Amino acid sequence: MAGSTRTPDDSITREYVARHPRSAALYREALDVFPGGATHEVRRVLPFPVFMARGRGAVKWDADGHEYVDYVMGHGALLLGHGHPELVAAAASQLPHGTQLGANTEQEIAWAQAVRALMPSVERIRFHSSGTEATMMAIRIARACTGRDRIVTFADHFHGWHDYVAGGSGRYPATGVPEATRSTVTTLPAADPDAVDRTLAAGDVAAVMLEPTGGAMGYYALDPAFLHRLREITARRGALLIFDEVVTGFRVSKGGAQERYGVRPDLTALAKILAGGLPGGATGGRAELLNVLSFPPDVDPQRRIGHPGTFNANPLSAAAGTRCLHLLADGAANAAAERAARRLRQGIAGAIAAAGVTAFCHQRASIVWIVFGSAWDGDPELCAAPRAALAEGREPRYTEPFKRALLNRGVDALGGTFIASAAHTGAQIDRTAEAVEDALRRMKADEVLR
Ligand SMILES: Cc1ncc(COP(=O)(O)O)c(C=O)c1O
Repeated sequence: MAGSTRTPDDSITREYVARHPRSAALYREALDVFPGGATHEVRRVLPFPVFMARGRGAVKWDADGHEYVDYVMGHGALLLGHGHPELVAAAASQLPHGTQLGANTEQEIAWAQAVRALMPSVERIRFHSSGTEATMMAIRIARACTGRDRIVTFADHFHGWHDYVAGGSGRYPATGVPEATRSTVTTLPAADPDAVDRTLAAGDVAAVMLEPTGGAMGYYALDPAFLHRLREITARRGALLIFDEVVTGFRVSKGGAQERYGVRPDLTALAKILAGGLPGGATGGRAELLNVLSFPPDVDPQRRIGHPGTFNANPLSAAAGTRCLHLLADGAANAAAERAARRLRQGIAGAIAAAGVTAFCHQRASIVWIVFGSAWDGDPELCAAPRAALAEGREPRYTEPFKRALLNRGVDALGGTFIASAAHTGAQIDRTAEAVEDALRRMKADEVLR
């Protein structure tokens, strides 16, 4: 969903402009080098974004010197917060020895073993550089192994920006993708197992791919029972099941959604937490499937997939990623992040009530969302609110002023999405709840929210 195009003029925005003169100046420079002044779809903020300078733990500081409690958390890559000392040490100790040795390294083996120790379905793995590559490779492997072309995805589920998934989530435009490419992907409504079964009955589906907690990082929450149904349907119909655990991997539990909900996918796409705060992605799964990346005589030359990639398994990401996964191995960091999220959700619920606005919040593991414009009081950790209310509740007309109002009060969230980490303290979360209450009151005063 594209954001607003008009520069707003309200009390929140006037305060925002006055507080961030250095960011305003940097934005003028950014406009001269980046299309739209932006480097990522969701980093665009009107009238200009806040430019961040550094981060530590759960806090970061902007170019004007303001401090923020951070809930963007590197787009979900930082379960342990910014600059965790052990991850910094791991990367720093590798740096002088080379960041790209153009060869196999011991570090890549340790990284793969660390993934497999947490996620046993990953019998074999290939590392690359991003979540987009991870889902792209999973699709390629599924097609190569099944000899089928069609891929099934779900409405609102996001899998990156390569041609097979661009536009599929309904959030970002996909101009430039050939119709021939688009037509090989069928997007179904989420949580309708009968529709999946009917679609797979045609016998041409290579794989079903989904975000296992639900679309948009779990915002459109999926009941775990659906995962079990998908496992059964895909196995019966001869299609593969791909879990896109780019967000959920090593977050919703140390072994991802597959561990937490007890469903073993055939293939898994990984990134974010995987690389300990550095760039990195991976596709893993059953050995016989990953074998298409192997070499003759292990694989028929006609069936193999070639996979070059300059920064595949680079030792810097491997060092940070391995250390990060070792730190998660006892489950304590996941539990701490989830406790932080629960406290935050309760704080936001209190802020909504105190400000007297129509909104609600929900949570899945360590991610919390505020939904604007409607009320709902079911299970806040498995949100079953109507899809239309959820879609309306994240419209830019709400989330953009909320983002600015929170930044004015020292909190940075991804619109209405708060990604918690093991580094968030109780005091920081309580400060956040106060900032949310103030933001909601300001939105009410500006008549953005009733
Ligand atoms: C579920 C999911 N899959 C894939 C991606 C793409 O990952 P990347 O941004 O590393 O390309 C994302 C990015 O946020 C994601 O949330």
